[in-house]
Amino acid sequence: MPAILLTGATGYIGSHTWLALQSAGFDVIGVDSLVNSSPKVLDRLTELGGREPVFVEGDVRDAAALDRCFELAGTRFGGISAVVHFAALKAVGESNERPLDYYENNLGGLLSVCQAMKRHGVTDLVFSSSATVYGKPESLPITESAALKATNPYGQTKLIGEELLRGLEQCDASWHFAYLRYFNPVGAHPSGRIGEDPRGIPNNLMPYVAQVAVGKRAHLNVFGNDYDTPDGTGVRDYIHVCDLAEGHVAALRYLAEQKRSLTVNLGTGQGYSVLDLARAYGEAADREIPVVFAPRRPGDIDACYADPAKAFETMGWRATRGLAEMCADSWRWQSSNPNGFEA
Ligand code: NAD
Ligand code: WQD
Repeated sequence: MPAILLTGATGYIGSHTWLALQSAGFDVIGVDSLVNSSPKVLDRLTELGGREPVFVEGDVRDAAALDRCFELAGTRFGGISAVVHFAALKAVGESNERPLDYYENNLGGLLSVCQAMKRHGVTDLVFSSSATVYGKPESLPITESAALKATNPYGQTKLIGEELLRGLEQCDASWHFAYLRYFNPVGAHPSGRIGEDPRGIPNNLMPYVAQVAVGKRAHLNVFGNDYDTPDGTGVRDYIHVCDLAEGHVAALRYLAEQKRSLTVNLGTGQGYSVLDLARAYGEAADREIPVVFAPRRPGDIDACYADPAKAFETMGWRATRGLAEMCADSWRWQSSNPNGFEA
């Protein structure tokens, strides 16, 4: 049976999706430049998946590296039936400092992946989009038909990425794309063997809280307590990374069966504040998370949560894991790997 090609395969969401696909009976081939992930992920995937991952180290902007993936899949499996394109740079703050690198990597990478698919006659692609394409939403919960707006170069790469793919489909109806708009992925595989391993100081809330819980950071800086939310701190739709991974399995099945494109939110529909999350994490880790109120972070919005109904109506997928499970699984990963994949 043809395999699924994952780009950005050793990253946080890619590695969890790799396992979810194998559990659902798919063969997988991964490609990653390792610019933001560790090769040790591959050892953990071997351990958890019970077989050695088929992997190519390379940059998706390198046509030869992508051709190697298709050739390898031809010999190891019956070729490639679809691509899930995770490979991208994702730090919002960094994207303001290095906009050209973000445009080049994220948009150049997407075009290169589509060119390779065209060379090899593959037409189904799942695109990692983001709730960031909704900018500051006009109403909540956010449906897929809400207005789109990018507020930073990273967000632009997701919005323009979606537009490029829509343009491609209009010119050639053989392409089928799943535009998956992720809300805030958190948590880790329940084994505690793979999880999020950010480099340097974490930008995102849960990995920061995890490092406070494990004693690597003294306290959580809560960015703003005067938002228009019940406790004044920012509200987001946190989604367990394993639910998110299963959303990709559902999207691939949808593309294969329906032979049409799809745009869906992947969220839970439930918003939690920064303080809710810190409290829930403290309970999971059985320790207090000290917090210090700090000024708002530029560009942040009050609240953001999905209307997840369309994903269930179209693909039969919905998130099933709650905040306590997200925190417990993150804590299992963080406490047993305090330095991430570095021993
Ligand atoms: P991640 O940084 O953990 O994984 C991305 C992977 O892509 C890394 O392993 C990195 O080494 C690789 N990569 C980057 N550029 C590459 C290139 N040119 N060639 C080959 N490999 C390259 O990030 P993640 O959280 O797993 O995110 C995966 C995707 O989901 C990204 O497209 C991201 O923009 C999107 N997304 C993430 C979030 C989030 O909060 N984590 C939310 C919405 C969307
Ligand atoms: C969540 C809440 C912060 C850190 C980002 C990207 C978005 C998407 C997901 C990729 C906010 C507060 C955070 C801290 C805090 N990524 N916070 N102290 O900003 O909703 O979304 O990741 O597509 O594009 O923008 O997530 O985890 O950074 O913040 O108080 O140390 O936690 O202000 O209210 P965000 P986040």
